[in-house]
Amino acid sequence: MLEKIQPETLAANVFDLIGNRWLLLTAGDETGGFNTMTVSWGGLGVLWGKYVATCYVRPQRYTRKFMEKSGLFTLSAYPETMHSIHTVCGGMSGRDVNKAKECGLTPVFTPEGATYFAEAELAFVCKKLYFEDFDPSKFLDKSILNNYPNQDFHRMYVGEILEVLQKQA
Ligand SMILES: Cc1cc2nc3c(=O)[nH]c(=O)nc-3n(C[C@H](O)[C@H](O)[C@H](O)COP(=O)(O)O)c2cc1C
Repeated sequence: MLEKIQPETLAANVFDLIGNRWLLLTAGDETGGFNTMTVSWGGLGVLWGKYVATCYVRPQRYTRKFMEKSGLFTLSAYPETMHSIHTVCGGMSGRDVNKAKECGLTPVFTPEGATYFAEAELAFVCKKLYFEDFDPSKFLDKSILNNYPNQDFHRMYVGEILEVLQKQA
């Protein structure tokens, strides 16, 4: 069971959390369906006077469809012992496999229409505020374009963090 904490009391190191532990980005709900995928690029910070999370989703991800039709998304972190979930969630598509079932993840549907999994240690419930596709003409360091041999530029989503939920010790 996760409990709401104040964002300012978050103890996790953001760089370690996102870059090393990795997160699940989940969008959709109980009625319309949902999907989840591993992300290791993103950010947590402050923008427009709000606490925000950013994430970056390539056009071909099945999760992108759910990101587009949902007003909410979640980013969630899992215990080290569950790191292997990312083999499925970051290596297979929800078009081909039921990732939650495959990984033993139990969906939690919030009344507002966000989805995360009961096994999470930490979850950020976010409301989409803004999106933008990366524009190849705006990369000042052209070497970054090496990430896009297929021109599949990420769509950035900025979400207002509505709730930070953490497993209690
Ligand atoms: C460690 C790791 C980090 C990833 N980070 C991202 C990311 O930030 N953005 C993205 O579009 N894909 C990222 N991916 C790829 C997706 O997780 C992967 O393609 C996934 O299978 C997509 O699933 P879907 O088609 O069900 O949405 C990452 C994969 C791994 C293994």
